[in-house]
Amino acid sequence: MDHFLYRDGTLHAEDVPLAKIAATVGTPFYCYSAATLTRHYQLFEQALASMPHLVCFAIKSLSNVAVLKLLGDLGAGMDVVSGGEYRRARAAGVPGERIVFSGVGKTREEMRLALQGGIRQFNVESEPELRALSEVAVSLGTVAPIAIRVNPDVDAKTHAKIATGKAENKFGIPITRAPGVYAEAARLPGIEVVGIDVHIGSQLTDLAPFEAAFARVADLTVALRAQGHAIRRLDLGGGLGIPYTRSNEAPPLPADYGAMIRRTVGHLGCEIEIEPGRLISGNAGVLVSQVIWVKRGEDRDFLIVDAAMNDLVRPSMYDAHHDIVAVAEPPAGSPTQPYDVVGPICETGDTFARGRDLPLLAEGDLIAFRSAGAYGAVMASEYNTRPLVPEVLVRDDHFAVIRARPTFDEILNRDTVPVWL
Ligand code: LLP
Repeated sequence: MDHFLYRDGTLHAEDVPLAKIAATVGTPFYCYSAATLTRHYQLFEQALASMPHLVCFAIKSLSNVAVLKLLGDLGAGMDVVSGGEYRRARAAGVPGERIVFSGVGKTREEMRLALQGGIRQFNVESEPELRALSEVAVSLGTVAPIAIRVNPDVDAKTHAKIATGKAENKFGIPITRAPGVYAEAARLPGIEVVGIDVHIGSQLTDLAPFEAAFARVADLTVALRAQGHAIRRLDLGGGLGIPYTRSNEAPPLPADYGAMIRRTVGHLGCEIEIEPGRLISGNAGVLVSQVIWVKRGEDRDFLIVDAAMNDLVRPSMYDAHHDIVAVAEPPAGSPTQPYDVVGPICETGDTFARGRDLPLLAEGDLIAFRSAGAYGAVMASEYNTRPLVPEVLVRDDHFAVIRARPTFDEILNRDTVPVWL
């Protein structure tokens, strides 16, 4: 459920007509609903309510500081994967003890930043990282709390580019090798083992792969405890999928996911951490765009819109489907026709949809790409020198620009011509 609905014949974000925002901000722009973000976060809170837990928002999915403040103020923790994301979480007022640091390639500088600024735990992904973290912590006279990310060799049954839990993926330490690495961690100065971490992939629409992975983590918890390690936290990652089409998809609900977690690891008495991104932010955002031209091709009509693959790369990168709707509500029973929906960028990959049935649209009409809150704005670029797409946050009947569109002067001034040229 989200808060982008037709009212009085026009698509609203909560109580604000998207056309009103378009008139003020220009197109394209991302628009997020505070009520939807809040609701989705709370669904996870409720799902885990029977266990000690922390819901850490995967800020890679939507990292605007205003959004992080909204979720942080509700009590959310944050899952960060870079020094930049760590800074964003802190700028949003989230205390270090609610921030977990994931990622396969943390640098010593990033370790230092988080150790000095405060951190709940590092999710360590390799032996060299573990040793470096020990050195950095000792040099700062502090102790780094860690979980080791294990790779359970489970097929997440999702798009190959976003599956992370198979042995062939770069992520985590093979679960079979974990006892040896925990033994080393226990011997290293400046390291305190607090738990186990696992994340098998994104946009999972079936609970079975999660359950298989979490069962392996439960077995590992028992084995590690028998070896004397104080495993008190389990970080179970993110990855729960969302419906991208309104009709035929029904991924498991957070409540079912929570019940499965309780069933597989609840008996261990650990504090549960999860790192959902997409389920919180995905359906809390739309990308609004305007039709530039309707172009008649040989055998099809192209809807050329002012958003492009640089603003929303998911269709060209993952063949992802995003529902597209007209901002002006089509009267019931009005005709539709198939369009190829494309952006202005000079490559054929700049295609959002082929043969998509839409109401009849004309130059100047507004459309919205639904389910664009996660991995939309954060993956945008300025390819073709198209200004980075702005972001707007709506709450009830008011809205604010939470990242402005850069001016062309700002863009050009970032380039420097060397004096010797
Ligand atoms: N935790 C870790 C360690 C992750 O790597 C990820 C996502 C998450 C949590 C959050 O997963 P989520 O709940 O959002 O599924 N750009 C791709 C998705 C990449 C996901 C990367 N890792 C897309 O647009 O589909």
